[in-house]
Amino acid sequence: MSTHIGAAPGAVAPHVLMPGDPLRARWVAETFLEDVTCYNEVRGMLGYTGTWRGERISVQGSGMGQPSLAIYATELFTDYDVRSIVRIGSCGALVEKVGLRDVILATGACTDSGMNRLRFHGLDYAPVADFGLLRAAYDAAQARDDVTTWTGLILSGDQFYSPRPELVEPMTDHGVLAVEMEASALYTLAARHERRALAICTVSDHLVTGEETTALERQETFPAMVEIALAAVTA
Ligand code: ADE
Repeated sequence: MSTHIGAAPGAVAPHVLMPGDPLRARWVAETFLEDVTCYNEVRGMLGYTGTWRGERISVQGSGMGQPSLAIYATELFTDYDVRSIVRIGSCGALVEKVGLRDVILATGACTDSGMNRLRFHGLDYAPVADFGLLRAAYDAAQARDDVTTWTGLILSGDQFYSPRPELVEPMTDHGVLAVEMEASALYTLAARHERRALAICTVSDHLVTGEETTALERQETFPAMVEIALAAVTA
C-alpha cells in the first residue's frame, strides 16, 4: 500500500475516474462497472476497481481541493503506475452563456492556489488537459443529444467561500468559464509524471444568476458525464 491508499500492487487499474466525493466513487462503481472490488477505505476515501465493456477501470475519490487531490493523484501515478486520471466533478458557472447542468471539458485550468507558485518558483505554469483524452471526450459528448458541452478554461480556486468573489473578474474577462477546486493540480501532476489527465465538470451552480441544481437534478446529469469519461479513457 501507499501512504494514503490501502491497495495491493496491481489492484488499481491503469485508468481512473476521480470524483471529489468518495460516495460518488462508490455510486459510479456500483452503477457503471462490473465485477467490482473495493481496494481502499483509508480515511473513507473509497476506491474501487471493476470492468467497463471488458476494460479494467478504477474509481477513486479525491476529496475537496487541490492539496487533497494531489495526495491521491501522486500516489496513483507513483505507487500504482496509473496512466490516466479523469476528474468527474461539479463546478460553478462564471459566465452567463454557460447553463446549469451543462458539461465543461476543461482544456486548461487557471488557479489562485499557491501550490504552483511554490512548484515553479513564482513563474506561471499553464496546466492543460491531455489532448487525446480531450478529443475523445469531445467526440463522445458531441455524439449525445442530452448534454450541452463547452470546451474551455476553468479556474481551480482554493476558497469555496471566497471573501472577494469579484476577484475572478479578470479571469472571466479572459475566457474562463467556470470555477471548481481541483483540476489545476491534477493537470500539473500528470505533466510531472508524464501521464494523462482530463477534468470534466457539470455545472451545479451559477455564480452570475444565483441558480443552483437540486440534488435530484445533479443525479440526473452525472451519468452523462461518467459515460463521457468512460468513453474517453477507453478510446
Ligand atoms: N464546485 C461546484 N460549485 C463550485 C463553486 N461555486 N465554487 C467552487 N467549486 C465549486
